Amino acid sequence: MRNLDENTITEAVLARHEHAAGERLKTIATSLVRHLHAFAREVNLTEREWEQGIRFLTEIGEITDDKRQEFILLSDTLGLSMLVTAMANRKPQGCTEATVFGPFFVEGAPAYQNGDDVAHGAHGEPCFVSGSVRGLDGEAVGGARIEVWQADADGFYDVQRAGDDAHRARGALHSLADGSYHFRSIVAEPYPIPHDGPVGKMLTALGRHPWRPAHLHFMITAPGYERLVTHVFRDGDPYLDSDAVFGVRSSLVAPWVRHEEGTAPDGTRMKTPYHTLEFNFVLNRSS
Ligand code: BEZ
Ligand code: FE
Repeated sequence: MRNLDENTITEAVLARHEHAAGERLKTIATSLVRHLHAFAREVNLTEREWEQGIRFLTEIGEITDDKRQEFILLSDTLGLSMLVTAMANRKPQGCTEATVFGPFFVEGAPAYQNGDDVAHGAHGEPCFVSGSVRGLDGEAVGGARIEVWQADADGFYDVQRAGDDAHRARGALHSLADGSYHFRSIVAEPYPIPHDGPVGKMLTALGRHPWRPAHLHFMITAPGYERLVTHVFRDGDPYLDSDAVFGVRSSLVAPWVRHEEGTAPDGTRMKTPYHTLEFNFVLNRSS
């Protein structure tokens, strides 16, 4: 195959996929090549611009390591993560909606009992979180594994703080037999996604801000039910309508009620102001 030109090169590339190791791979690679070529044609991409693009992708690779995942940030800020999440989570009405996973989940976070404080020293005003895990017919889902993680009052996840390997403001507990759960943590605050790298430069160049509205991450798994990865967002947050990663769903916004010092829901005598958050989850049955 020689003398390919701008009109014939796309089909020539696709012809080489004939022996791809699987039909699904072939479908994905074919569509990707078609869309990439169409994009280059549509914007009449120059050599200089594509060099810049390659440099941008190289920088993303260079800054990525086991603590910093710039490719996830790229996918998130381009709305691709949320698109894939939405397509993968077409649930019946009444189920709790899913949202982006994000780059700050950690395997092996500490196990807690209901009532424990998962903050583990993370800085922030105390927050008592409670609610239930149910199925679509209202049945209690006892023994569901509930993993939670969040940023501290300064807007940082524990893994972003160099030199501190303690798990803070993250942990796993299980719903009780009646489906209820409760734990103590800290109030979530809005925070910017890491923006000191190439994705941050991209956002600035596009006139976009890097902020996410305050939220608490949940991942809930239970036998017989689909895994739910979601957040609860804090009502009133200024970034609810401009989340840098497009993850907000109205059904996931809840009031985080502030209380003056007094007796907390679990009977703890609080000498400082504290918050309460109640959120009930509804899981979809797995097929
Ligand atoms: C997060 O909420 O943890 C997050 C999600 C997407 C990009 C960056 C952070
Ligand atoms: Fe987050």
